[in-house]
Amino acid sequence: MWRYTVSKGPGVQRMFDAIAGSYDLMNRVMTLGQDQRWRRFVVYKAQDPGSGWALDLATGTGDIAALTRKTCPASRVIGADFAQNMLKEARKRFAPLDISWQACDANFLPYADNSFASVSFGYLLRNVDDAGAVLKEVHRVLKPGGRVVCLDTTPPRKNLWYPLVRFYFRFGIPFLGRFIAKDESAYAYLTGSTMDFYSADALAAVFTAAGFQEVGYQRFMLGTIAVHWGRKQE
Ligand SMILES: C[S@@+](CC[C@H](N)C(=O)[O-])C[C@H]1O[C@@H](n2cnc3c(N)ncnc32)[C@H](O)[C@@H]1O
Repeated sequence: MWRYTVSKGPGVQRMFDAIAGSYDLMNRVMTLGQDQRWRRFVVYKAQDPGSGWALDLATGTGDIAALTRKTCPASRVIGADFAQNMLKEARKRFAPLDISWQACDANFLPYADNSFASVSFGYLLRNVDDAGAVLKEVHRVLKPGGRVVCLDTTPPRKNLWYPLVRFYFRFGIPFLGRFIAKDESAYAYLTGSTMDFYSADALAAVFTAAGFQEVGYQRFMLGTIAVHWGRKQE
């Protein structure tokens, strides 16, 4: 039985505001230094928008937005999140980069229809009440032909690695959360929300139901991480 200690929406916002200062260190340790590799894959799948706009939603401390800006030199990049402390870290970390950091809720995007060549997000959909509704909102703001790319944890499959992975999720991650982030409950939430999240196949179906085409995904880290992608019809 996986227990939530915070609810979604305002609870998630408060949680990320509280752990913003230790978020990056915790990420590196928890993923054994793999997390940036997955973010680079996100940027690769989103493709270079040329001189168009790229939106990194739930940007947090800004890594995907910064990688997009560095990899695609002509791009114009917005990094958006509803947790002000996460955005503060992003601004501090990537001050020299020309990125527009904006506060907004992924459920109600303050952007016009057909605005972006790409929309990326890392670890967003597990944290919202209705992933399908957020994906429809993302679909609305993408230009025809625009790409969506999503990085998130995914429930582990029951294979040879399952007992090890389950043990790490159940005990290892909350333990690291207690010592590094000084917040065990935030990382117990990560475990619980991962176990309760869509399987990778089911999430791909949610992308399709939201209107995306050419939907696919790739797993990483013993199947506990998945990157999903799709395209808005031309
Ligand atoms: C685990 S962090 C991921 C940060 C970053 N994308 C990364 O790759 O490390 C999740 C982020 O999603 C943001 N978030 C969660 N729900 C959101 C929502 N409804 N609207 C905007 N941001 C949201 C949180 O504030 C947090 O910064």
